[in-house]
Amino acid sequence: MKKSDLVIPFKYEDRRPIILHRFLYVPDNYDFHDEFRDKITFENDNEINIEYCSGNGEWIVDRAKKNPNINFIAVEMKFLRARQIWLKMHKENIKNLFVVKSEAFIFTKHYLKDCFASDVFINFPDPWPKKKHAKNRLIKKEFLQEVNRVQKKDETITVVTDHEDYRDEIINEFLKVKEYRSIFKEPYFEQDTKGFGSSFFSTLFQSKDKAINYIKFSRI
Ligand SMILES: C[S@@+](CC[C@H](N)C(=O)[O-])C[C@H]1O[C@@H](n2cnc3c(N)ncnc32)[C@H](O)[C@@H]1O
Repeated sequence: MKKSDLVIPFKYEDRRPIILHRFLYVPDNYDFHDEFRDKITFENDNEINIEYCSGNGEWIVDRAKKNPNINFIAVEMKFLRARQIWLKMHKENIKNLFVVKSEAFIFTKHYLKDCFASDVFINFPDPWPKKKHAKNRLIKKEFLQEVNRVQKKDETITVVTDHEDYRDEIINEFLKVKEYRSIFKEPYFEQDTKGFGSSFFSTLFQSKDKAINYIKFSRI
């Protein structure tokens, strides 16, 4: 596969969700998500893990390669980054990966059915550090409730962040959702989780000696 194989209907009047070569494209500013009938499929019925905010896909590509018996979905809202993951996936012939170009909440709400997924991961969601931008943060109760709906019972969601203020807000949002229970004891995060894998941002922050916070909840 090469870039030109991903023929996306970008023109305003043509825009629609479309699946092409294991890539789901969900347009921005679009109102008809619930009319979409195609489905994300894999070659087998193995469990499905989702990573939101995948960036350049370093973490999920490595995870998929190391766990061939798990299927993975990478969700990234920027088209060029999602395409970068998709190119890697085809170049390295990773069959247990699917890439979604979409905003995370919209994708979860409109494109995923109940109890569809097992574990969920969010590595370094944008912290929007300025107070006036904090409303743009992804991890709110409403988003977590949607993720909870699509997860199977007892499966986990892990969120990783370097940002202390966002970490505390994320924990508060989780505590509002009664269908999630923290795996870690109060204060509900840990900083020393080995073997989790590395992403572009984890490598960057570790090189600056920044503490990395792991938040992990289980779906009741
Ligand atoms: C700070 S980067 C982290 C990338 C990667 N997870 C890593 O650790 O290197 C955050 C990524 O999340 C994506 N993103 C931010 N908000 C999103 C949303 N609401 N839905 C989907 N992707 C989102 C951004 O485009 C960006 O690529």
